[in-house]
Amino acid sequence: MAPAQELPPETEAEPLGDAADKSRVTVVGSGNWGSVAAKLIASNTLRLPSFHDEVRMWVFEEILPSGEKLTDVINSTNENVKYLPGIKLGNNVVADPDLENAVKDANMLVFVTPHQFMEGICKRLVGKVKEGMEAISLIKGMEVKMEGPCMISSLISEQLGINCCVLMGANIANEIAVEKFSEATVGYRENRDIAEKWVQLFSTSYFMVSPVQDVEGVELCGTLKNVVAIAAGFVDGLEMGNNTKAAIMRIGLREMKAFSKLLFPSVKDTTFFESCGVADLITTCLGGRNRKVAEAFAKNGGKRSFDELEAEMLQGQKLQGVSTARELYEVLSHRGWLELFPLFATVHEISTGRLPPSAIVEYSEHKPNFSLVQGSAQYC
Ligand SMILES: NC(=O)c1ccc[n+]([C@@H]2O[C@H](COP(=O)([O-])OP(=O)(O)OC[C@H]3O[C@@H](n4cnc5c(N)ncnc54)[C@H](O)[C@@H]3O)[C@@H](O)[C@H]2O)c1
Repeated sequence: MAPAQELPPETEAEPLGDAADKSRVTVVGSGNWGSVAAKLIASNTLRLPSFHDEVRMWVFEEILPSGEKLTDVINSTNENVKYLPGIKLGNNVVADPDLENAVKDANMLVFVTPHQFMEGICKRLVGKVKEGMEAISLIKGMEVKMEGPCMISSLISEQLGINCCVLMGANIANEIAVEKFSEATVGYRENRDIAEKWVQLFSTSYFMVSPVQDVEGVELCGTLKNVVAIAAGFVDGLEMGNNTKAAIMRIGLREMKAFSKLLFPSVKDTTFFESCGVADLITTCLGGRNRKVAEAFAKNGGKRSFDELEAEMLQGQKLQGVSTARELYEVLSHRGWLELFPLFATVHEISTGRLPPSAIVEYSEHKPNFSLVQGSAQYC
């Protein structure tokens, strides 16, 4: 049962100003979670006087089997028929296929695309966003560069010169779409007022959001748990049972925490107990798309590739865990940390066919020794 939740006050956070003082929100991305995020936000911009009602949503244009453009269909039916069929987004959501046009009047940007597209999107937005723009990333994943791993919020901040918070949590989009109760965590750097504004924009009676001053910890939780979910899927595909899955989740959580703290010593232990931490790990290992496709991979004895299974099972939605495992593996090999993170390393080796799916439980003799690693890592 959803606990009764007090919504953030409408008038205390910001006084009712004239139209010029109101914030305008654009959602960059329109997949499964992007569409649900637009729905949550649109219900709040109508309710809260400090926001303009309209929410722009940038849509990567696609032609549907009917021959119609996805944006036209979203704007005429108020539904994202491809990525979130059957759910009304709110009449104040306007789909826009032109990225520059979609962001030009906004002063709050919500980034929610699969992570592999973000570098290209940021390049297109350089010099195109308003001064004082605030951003939030709902994206799980990282970019690996020569200098080291780069979290998506840092990529956004550095390329666009803007502050960027993150929102992560136990949030399987289809469940939030039908208004089942869940929680999420907003990670922020310094400005608590901005964090509160994001909390206000996302919170509803069925979506409870809490702020935490730990951007890297929150973002790494959201990113790394997808790799553990792939491992959980292998266990399910091999029908190893609940004890084994719980063990994999525990080992995965330990590696998530150790990796996050090696990379960013400022990451807080308490972050792993927020919705973005253990709760997201549990829901993703029980129900997410990474688990589901990894289960099919293991059932097929690793003979059908993840690319093939993704195309067949996800209808255009993207897997994040396999690419994150590859990126993580690059970081681990580059730093000589492979033996410290046997679960993460094994997930990549199974995904690429170097090891059979059964190898997921065959590495326990390697006892990670984090004291071997000197100092903290470099990152962008
Ligand atoms: N779906 C969930 O339950 C969920 C929950 C929490 C977080 N997330 C995260 O949210 C992010 C977005 O996921 P999603 O579920 O909204 O997307 P999705 O996987 O459902 O859809 C893929 C999206 O990518 C777009 N796309 C395809 N090619 C593109 C290109 N070349 N350039 C730009 N966009 C392109 C598609 O149009 C579509 O909007 C991911 O980082 C994901 O990990 C998802």
